[in-house]
Amino acid sequence: MKEYLEKFSAEVRELIAVLRRLAGELDYNAYLVGGCVRDLLLGMKNLDLDIVIEGDGIAFAEKLSAHLGVKVVFHRRFGTATCFIHSHLKLDIATCRREFYPEPGHLPVVSAGLLKDDLFRRDFTINAMAISISDPGFGRFIDLFNGRSDLNNKKIRILHNLSFVDDPTRILRAVRFEQRYGFRLETATLSLLKKACQMALLEKIQAQRIRDEIVLILKEDDPLKPLKRLKQLTGLGFINKHLYFPDGKSRLLKKAASTIRHFNRLSPLRRRLEGWVVYLTALLDGLSSGEAKKVLNKFVFAKGVQRRVLSYIKESDKIIRVLKKPQIKSSRVYNLLEPLSYETIILIKAKSSSSKVRKEIDCFFNLSGFMRLHISGCDLNALGIKSGPCYQEILKKVLNARIDARVNTLDEELALASRLAKIRS
Ligand code: CTP
Repeated sequence: MKEYLEKFSAEVRELIAVLRRLAGELDYNAYLVGGCVRDLLLGMKNLDLDIVIEGDGIAFAEKLSAHLGVKVVFHRRFGTATCFIHSHLKLDIATCRREFYPEPGHLPVVSAGLLKDDLFRRDFTINAMAISISDPGFGRFIDLFNGRSDLNNKKIRILHNLSFVDDPTRILRAVRFEQRYGFRLETATLSLLKKACQMALLEKIQAQRIRDEIVLILKEDDPLKPLKRLKQLTGLGFINKHLYFPDGKSRLLKKAASTIRHFNRLSPLRRRLEGWVVYLTALLDGLSSGEAKKVLNKFVFAKGVQRRVLSYIKESDKIIRVLKKPQIKSSRVYNLLEPLSYETIILIKAKSSSSKVRKEIDCFFNLSGFMRLHISGCDLNALGIKSGPCYQEILKKVLNARIDARVNTLDEELALASRLAKIRS
């Protein structure tokens, strides 16, 4: 298996060499586990490395932090730590643990264990493989549940019959991995997943845990695939009983994906869109604002996410109507769209089939961020205009005139500002 470790980039291999040395100094066994092993075998890049330690994971992370001088966030209650090696390379370190579910769907009771305990508590065979990165046995591949064979046969398989009952979020994870890799749920797993759905287990666990998995689905490269599969397997009633997934919704999500790609390609200098917020909004499109609020509150989405989703739900139809009007002034478009987030505007663009609306939105994006007045409050002061709230009002009117190309130069802006001040006084 050593040759598999060779597949990592030089940077990761150097890091593994450090981990190997530190594990030796502490006399611990250290293993790479989970998604990074799965993706290594699949030949896919994954720079989120999960390490488990037979020993004290926190002590190991402290030593690593001192050695590399990198930032480490400790979650001492869970015996885990996250090290940020570079912005793109992250290391999660945990003590090997044994888990016991006192009640279905509740969080497990955790105690320190061996590697085999840690692998057995995992969701699917393809996520339960490990590679030793300490001595003796550096590079040894550990596959207690035939994960490699499932990977070769493109199967998602749980490790034991109570897996979905213990942790119903695995229903969402199973669908996510199945669709991401183009795998299939193995027969017994599929039937247990369906049973878990019939028992409405997703509705019985803490909503934030479901939310985190929904967000992961929405962050997939193509979230439409797992959403459609979920619709087929469970329906989306666990999110909201009024949430359906008609064909129009698939079209909206597809259109959202191409609109996001177009925006990111044409506007590389702007802040990146939070694509998953666009998809979440598309998912909730069609709900009344009352029902959308219920979803956002139930799953405790952050305030900023709630604001963006709700502004779309409440305003998109009106905005599309206004933008469709012939000969609407650029300044009106600007003032209509400027208070909205990029995510909201992108979905409005995706939703509208009118080329006029889409063109108006493109023009807005061309203007926004680059539209700057030549003048500022200091110029108004120099013109002898008494300072106060009127400054904002005058500057806004001059900006509207600039957007509508009624003024273009510094002198024209100054002349307009002074005219506006005279009218006011
Ligand atoms: N895991 C699990 N059950 C869960 C969540 C996580 O067994 N409900 C285990 C799996 O072994 C998984 C690992 O924890 O591989 C890490 O979880 P996560 O980072 O969520 O998934 P990855 O497998 O790394 O997948 P991704 O590529 O989506 O990050």
